[in-house]
Amino acid sequence: MKTYLAEDYEQMSAKAAEIIKEQLVNKPSLTLGLATGATPLGLYKKLISEYQKEQLSFHDVKTVNLDEYLGLSKNDVNSYYHFMYENFFRHININPNHTHIPNGMTEDPQQECKQYEQMIQSIGGIDLQVLGIGLNGHIGFNEPGSSFDCSTHIVQLDKSTRQANARFFPAIEDVPTEAITMGIKTIMNARQIILLASGAKKAEAVRRLMEGKVEAQFPASVLQLHPNVCIILDKDAASLLRERSTSL
Ligand code: F6R
Repeated sequence: MKTYLAEDYEQMSAKAAEIIKEQLVNKPSLTLGLATGATPLGLYKKLISEYQKEQLSFHDVKTVNLDEYLGLSKNDVNSYYHFMYENFFRHININPNHTHIPNGMTEDPQQECKQYEQMIQSIGGIDLQVLGIGLNGHIGFNEPGSSFDCSTHIVQLDKSTRQANARFFPAIEDVPTEAITMGIKTIMNARQIILLASGAKKAEAVRRLMEGKVEAQFPASVLQLHPNVCIILDKDAASLLRERSTSL
């Protein structure tokens, strides 16, 4: 595992953007795995700004998102489709047909999972997956106890995950109870992974991710087994680590 220690959120986001930019220059038709949530917002802003300065093109890029709530339509302000469109896709020159997010309104969620997984295979897999981390160690919506051998599947969201995400909804009861997520196997098949974490709230999760036992009870720990992972942290998120990380 490579680690970069950034001063703050801004620098963490800039480092992640730099890594993606390098890969995009090498392979303009890169397939990017993307995450939602607060963590990658700064990264998306940086990538948008590079595009606006004509330093980057997304013309040939394909994207696959990690997850989507079941029961929320594309137009719902809390759907991950809406999040990606508002915070990233509408600002860049990506072909909408090249962007993929599970359909939260599907009538057949099992079939949707199967098709999503097949779609990822058919476009040649994920070159670079961006991840955040949940306080309980989830990646995507793979909650504690998830099998490392899972492909895209339906999950019951953990109470703590629904609580953490309730800030975006009128009330906790409005947070969906189920989601479709790429599985840990799908994520681990990505050729490269970058995981971003910032803030003291994430420090214990980061410690377990990097220095804890590899166990299903803490899904992010599986990343210790991936051959090409880069963990990009700000100082607060790195504050409980025993080992000194590479400073930016
Ligand atoms: C989002 C996702 C989640 C988040 C995690 C952290 O698509 O799959 O695993 O990365 O919940 O969320 P934030 O960044 O809001 O702390």
